[in-house]
Amino acid sequence: MSPTDRPVLVVDYGAQYAQLIARRVREAHIYSEIVPHTAPVEALLARHPAAIILSGGPASVYAEGAPQVDPALFAAGVPVLGICYGFQAMAHALGGDVDAAAAGEYGHATAHVARPGLLLAASPEEQSVWMSHGVAVTRAPAGFTVLASTPGAPVAAIEDQQRRLFGVQWHPEVRHTPLGQRTIEQFLYYGAGLKPTWTPGSIVAEQVEAIRQQVGDDRAICGLSGGVDSAVAAALVQRAIGDSLTCVFVDHGLLRAGEREQVERDFVAVTGARLIVEDASQTFLTALDGVADPETKRKIIGREFIRAFEAATARVPTGQARFLVQGTLYPDVVESGGGEGAATIKSHHNVGGLPEDLQFELVEPLRALFKDEVRAVGAELGLPDWMVWRHPFPGPGLGIRIVGPVTPAKLDILRAADAIVREEMTAAGTDREIWQCPVVLLAEVRSVGVQGDERTYGHPVVLRPVTSEDAMTADWARLPGDLLARISRRITNEVRQINRVLLDVTSKPPGTIEWE
Ligand code: XMP
Repeated sequence: MSPTDRPVLVVDYGAQYAQLIARRVREAHIYSEIVPHTAPVEALLARHPAAIILSGGPASVYAEGAPQVDPALFAAGVPVLGICYGFQAMAHALGGDVDAAAAGEYGHATAHVARPGLLLAASPEEQSVWMSHGVAVTRAPAGFTVLASTPGAPVAAIEDQQRRLFGVQWHPEVRHTPLGQRTIEQFLYYGAGLKPTWTPGSIVAEQVEAIRQQVGDDRAICGLSGGVDSAVAAALVQRAIGDSLTCVFVDHGLLRAGEREQVERDFVAVTGARLIVEDASQTFLTALDGVADPETKRKIIGREFIRAFEAATARVPTGQARFLVQGTLYPDVVESGGGEGAATIKSHHNVGGLPEDLQFELVEPLRALFKDEVRAVGAELGLPDWMVWRHPFPGPGLGIRIVGPVTPAKLDILRAADAIVREEMTAAGTDREIWQCPVVLLAEVRSVGVQGDERTYGHPVVLRPVTSEDAMTADWARLPGDLLARISRRITNEVRQINRVLLDVTSKPPGTIEWE
């Protein structure tokens, strides 16, 4: 049995915490998936979950229409951990008391651990925890032992080892709870008896098998973008079906300096993959001519991308391909409205922007993975560090980093500035610390400057360095001042049309990482 046959299901009660919980479970090398709280108990149990975690959520158990937990869940013999709202809903469903009038706690709190039990084994008597609740459990349901309390939550952690039911009021999944990962692992390893078998090696083995099953004797093509996701997806599929895969690299004219050459030369050298380069830059630039609206640009690029693939398949030496491999990741799926109730923020070109007349069936071997997991799989496949640790680059390329209509001249300006930024950041050794650093050309803004006694009237570029774990949220990266100074000096000296370098100091939310 493979580690994904019996997932740990994280039931999402509508807060942003479910993803974090799923990540923490995976960090413990156990496969987890997020499911909506609207899924009936029978549907959850039909997945044969190895354990279930009920996430936090914004509601109060007494609020009208608040999601409830079906008590049948606790009678199914599946180990359950309730967190925050999930903990309260569990206590409520099993006959405990939840006091709506209790004082709320938000932020750091000190938990007093009266008896560690199984869940808090090895916890010191006091541990620092992160709280976010307005109501509190005041009496545990029958059969449970109370393990800990905080000033605002008299019953802050409980367990019933017999029934394998556990609950904590605080958030063990956030880094602000230093011993939180340990608590989650206690639940998984000892509460649920799970083994840490979900590893990069097992992911590769499982995906290779799944790809072989899906593709059979047919052929596939894979769109390479030059980024880590498509490279890892292609390498996985190559391992599964060898030369039945042809990689297609679409040069859409929106690439950064040197990218086409890197794919043509280096990727092929490392993987031995069969590669076709489709030069469609003219088509893209014509289709984008005069278009300023970001969503329209994204839709056009998405549409042309697929058209270019279709044209390329005509050139596949072994004949028509039936499958298209894409490096779609879990966050893309969630952000494109794939998750229950999630709003569409942007149409990611590899998910929301597909045309209705798509002529391929999709193979998406990374669809369940977060970025760091993709990197681990890439390393497992033997891809070199520079490929695995490349910063993400969006499919629509520089097309969404030029604010306003895209032209060849603006692309040249942005390419030159971007190359300087990448060079300096790599030289400064910041590549692994930061998630990515888009460089954005404000092509419709001009400002007055002075250079060599001459008046200039140039454009600004914006540096958008961010730190992030998965691009769902991000913070602006505090790059060293001397690095920023070097970048600024070089750009304004070497790229004639740019006379100002700006730094974007907005987190996500409210800003997104890309400007369009
Ligand atoms: P945002 O701008 O939504 O970006 O905060 C989140 C992450 O996704 C990348 N991105 C894309 N990747 N196709 C992609 O393959 C796209 O259409 C796309 N749009 C944004 C972005 O670079 C960041 O890493």
